[in-house]
Amino acid sequence: MENNILTISHLSKNYQSEKQEIEAIEDITLDIERGKFISIVGPSGCGKSTLLSILAGLENKSGGVIQFAKEDIVLGYMLQKDSLFPWRTILDNCLLGLEIQKKKTKENIAYVHKLLDTYGLHDFKDSYPSSLSGGMRQRTL
Ligand SMILES: Nc1ncnc2c1ncn2[C@@H]1O[C@H](COP(=O)(O)OP(=O)(O)OP(=O)(O)O)[C@@H](O)[C@H]1O
Ligand SMILES: [Mg+2]
Repeated sequence: MENNILTISHLSKNYQSEKQEIEAIEDITLDIERGKFISIVGPSGCGKSTLLSILAGLENKSGGVIQFAKEDIVLGYMLQKDSLFPWRTILDNCLLGLEIQKKKTKENIAYVHKLLDTYGLHDFKDSYPSSLSGGMRQRTL
């Protein structure tokens, strides 16, 4: 349909380990309309995170077709499990991307401070991830 932002057809995903194959997604067909707010609900282990990881390009699909309405779509994905470095403060975790890209300019650092403020984390900028709540850790991510 023309108003679809995303079309998923017969999507499947098998994880292959040395000992066994796990069928995480069997056969999902789904249209998502532009402007709709969608929840994916199901029991633990039913494949929700796998589906989102495939859509975000973090996992390969085993079969099926995924079509976004446009190629240059901007996709945000909040991971279930954060990957903050426990030995770095909240501020230093937030600066990591800039450090790696060698873009730690005065302006960019100021922007990180502004974002920390926006997300209610500025008072915790010198804390370590272990002293933050799950939601605070996800907002840092
Ligand atoms: N990296 C992986 N390697 C092998 N199997 C995996 C991997 N990730 C997930 N699985 C398996 O795929 C299935 C779906 O897992 P998934 O993490 O997508 O579930 P979920 O619906 O997000 O569960 P939860 O609600 O507990 O977060 C499970 O059987 C799980 O064991
Ligand atoms: Mg999950």
